[in-house]
Amino acid sequence: MEQAVTLPSQRVKSLRQAFERRFGRAPEIIVRAPGRVNLIGEHTDYNDGFVLPVAIDRDVLFAAARRNDDRVHLWAIDLDEEDEFALSDISRSEARPWANYQRGVAAMLQARGHKLIGADVAFSSNVPIGAGLSSSAAVEVAAAFGFLSLSGEEMDRAQMALACQQAEHEYAGVPCGIMDQFISALGKEDHALLIDCRSLTYEHIPIPEGVRIVVADTGVRRALAGSEYRVRRSQCEEAVRLLQPVLPEIRALRDVSEADLERHGHLLPEIVWRRARHVVSENQRVLDAVAALRQGDLARVGELFMASHRSLRDDYEVSSPELDAMVEAAMEGPGCFGARLTGAGFGGCTVSLVRADRVEDFVAHLTRAYRERTGREATVYVTRAADGVGMATA
Ligand code: GLA
Repeated sequence: MEQAVTLPSQRVKSLRQAFERRFGRAPEIIVRAPGRVNLIGEHTDYNDGFVLPVAIDRDVLFAAARRNDDRVHLWAIDLDEEDEFALSDISRSEARPWANYQRGVAAMLQARGHKLIGADVAFSSNVPIGAGLSSSAAVEVAAAFGFLSLSGEEMDRAQMALACQQAEHEYAGVPCGIMDQFISALGKEDHALLIDCRSLTYEHIPIPEGVRIVVADTGVRRALAGSEYRVRRSQCEEAVRLLQPVLPEIRALRDVSEADLERHGHLLPEIVWRRARHVVSENQRVLDAVAALRQGDLARVGELFMASHRSLRDDYEVSSPELDAMVEAAMEGPGCFGARLTGAGFGGCTVSLVRADRVEDFVAHLTRAYRERTGREATVYVTRAADGVGMATA
């Protein structure tokens, strides 16, 4: 089922009205920060590798106005819950876990020397939660940009993404890489973002005309995802530790080539070797996908999507029966170049590249074929590469 989306201008208008009703004055700023879908480069960011996400047209809206004291008053419109804290004394909230994103972001910005001003805040999101579309990164980046703008503070966007990532680590307790916050901060309309997760240098790569990005939510959420994510991270670290005696210059799997792995793979336990093989081959696939996108060779990009999915399924073992069923259903669909699981895996979404002139038929096919295979309902979004965080103009 394709989901109806409220027009962006309507969402901004109703947020402004809600803010005025609640706080008795108009917001001074309304910020928009997008979720993301990763085209390719999965589980490479925390290995200092390459990723190629796009920001999507699903986002968090954050309305705020300054206060005369140092308090932040937060209203989560979607939950209709509120939270309040002092900027001079920020800690995690056990009672309201949703508020830890804004609390963490404010704490990390201040720890980097930014002088923040107290604020009344109302925010709302249409990024599906827990689907692997980085709803939490969007909340963090919206808050960072909002707090900084309101306080008249300047910050480099890559540094802002790092502060948000640290907030996620320390306040939400999720040991994520840098991809999600980075793309929400630096996305560009109609472009994917090639990020070198070691140097944090990046390049916007145009998405060829005539192709659509289709995100399909399996509807399955796995509580396992968090603990398995940690296990994968430590297996990657183990691979580096075990390879260092023969490859002393390596610091991360980013530095290991396919030839290195072939030569020295026997030093690794089988499971660790497969994890490493995924990361090493996936880094190469990102660079190959960028080259193919530049040449407009979508068939090649599609092949790389399929290889990525197989590697995530067989070597990294982060797929699920539903994700595999969705990818198989997508591949049989009209106009599909390729499909793969996207995000951390275990549940959540797939991403497919589809010919623009076949996209309606593709969505109808995917919805039907996924239901036939699994008995479940998919939620399918045809999305486009959107801009990163900024002021909402509508
Ligand atoms: C999650 C993390 C990212 C990245 C992906 C897997 O989305 O937040 O940093 O590691 O998983 O590619």
